Amino acid sequence: MGATLYEPINVYKPLALNIGIVDGPFEYLTVAGIRLPLPFTTRMTVICLANGDLFLHSPIAFNEKLAAELRALGTVRHLVSPNQFHYAHIGEWAKAFPDAIAWASPGARQRARARHVDVNFTKDLDSHPPEEWCRDIDQTLIPGGIFKEFAFFHEPSRTLVLTDTIINLELDKITQPWRAFTKLSGMYYPHGQIFSACVCRSNSRRRKRRRRSKRSRRGVQSVLCSAMGAASMRTLMRSFVEYSNDDELDNWR
Ligand SMILES: [Fe+2]
Repeated sequence: MGATLYEPINVYKPLALNIGIVDGPFEYLTVAGIRLPLPFTTRMTVICLANGDLFLHSPIAFNEKLAAELRALGTVRHLVSPNQFHYAHIGEWAKAFPDAIAWASPGARQRARARHVDVNFTKDLDSHPPEEWCRDIDQTLIPGGIFKEFAFFHEPSRTLVLTDTIINLELDKITQPWRAFTKLSGMYYPHGQIFSACVCRSNSRRRKRRRRSKRSRRGVQSVLCSAMGAASMRTLMRSFVEYSNDDELDNWR
């Protein structure tokens, strides 16, 4: 069985009041400029802010019919790259909606430049929500090295919006060898898990930090600082503190 899409694609599917998803077409893994025959599905989240602006999280490939549908929902204003792997179509949306703001996550600019992706980011995300959407959405940066990403919380619907932090793939939607790999990793529906690469990197950094802390008092101070950072994490991200490496919390401030 081949990979299958989450039909219908390119239509807004409401989840709750003022928040919904849009499933997109397949994309293909590209390594060293070579497109591999390994399709994966795409999805974006759309939030309608109280002021009528639309927040597009991880925009899928631009589609004119979809753009018309979104225009009827509100003003396409925020094109958000939650991590450095989800930005490829922001430029297409920005061309269609020149008044929209393209929000960069750490590493997204460099990655786009290196891959010659045409996108001009206008603002950078921060560990606190900006004025533009702080009345509707809270946010924080989940550590994880190159896999770090911004998590968003839509307050009115109590919806947490993640990107790659938790993987929960439906096995019948993907082809081999992804299916076998996913089964081995345990990151499949209905028991999605935190992305293994984040955990591995997190553990590795913890070991390094422990070695350093034995060698110097600075290490001890750092751990204390991290504990304070963890304590200040907001309520919405409490569940993530269990998974996050406390030692990394001082690195994203
Ligand atoms: Fe992803």
